[in-house]
Amino acid sequence: MKFFVDTADVKEIKELNHLGLVDGVTTNPSLILKSGGKIAEVTKQICDIVEGPVSAEVVATEFPQMMKEAEVLAKIARNVCIKVPLTLDGLRACRAIRNDLGRQVNVTLCFSANQALLAAKAGATFISPFVGRLDDTGFDGMELISEIRTIYDNYDFKTEILTASVRTVNHVKQAALIGSDVITAPPATLRALVSHPLTDKGLAAFVADWAKTGQKIG
Ligand code: E4P
Repeated sequence: MKFFVDTADVKEIKELNHLGLVDGVTTNPSLILKSGGKIAEVTKQICDIVEGPVSAEVVATEFPQMMKEAEVLAKIARNVCIKVPLTLDGLRACRAIRNDLGRQVNVTLCFSANQALLAAKAGATFISPFVGRLDDTGFDGMELISEIRTIYDNYDFKTEILTASVRTVNHVKQAALIGSDVITAPPATLRALVSHPLTDKGLAAFVADWAKTGQKIG
């Protein structure tokens, strides 16, 4: 399973990349706002750090303007993956970006299995179901990931499931158990994956016992 980091914070991306935790990056208009930077500059900086796909989102809601924005975003770097919303215009743009611009497309704001089916038929590289936001409304976000996995496997769709709006380490575990191809999570959630109290306790005991031996390695 690939790990994407869901942020436009360049410093965080650099640090996580050094740790080998970044297979790609997802951004959205809210994350660009939070970064305080301009979309073209921030996206370029991220693409200079990360080898894998860096999702940059169009903000237009109609096809012609979506395509104009997609062309601008695509010029920023070769690994920019164009993110489009799950609307009829977005699906049309998905097809056109794949066929005419030859770029990867991440179809975002997916909240149902039928929407994911449409995105796969439009040739999406990634489908982004938002599990956290579904949980917030009383639905089970992970159930949607299971449904999409089954549908994509039934028809051998190549679109990758990119579990998004991840809020907890349990989301990551569940996504991995179901067979999500990718998860995108905020930096803090990716870092939290390493934590276990028994690891901390065990390490403290080993360090203390080692000090008592008076030995050194190297
Ligand atoms: C994914 O691409 C989105 O940027 C993100 O996962 C949304 O997460 P949120 O629901 O925590 O804003």
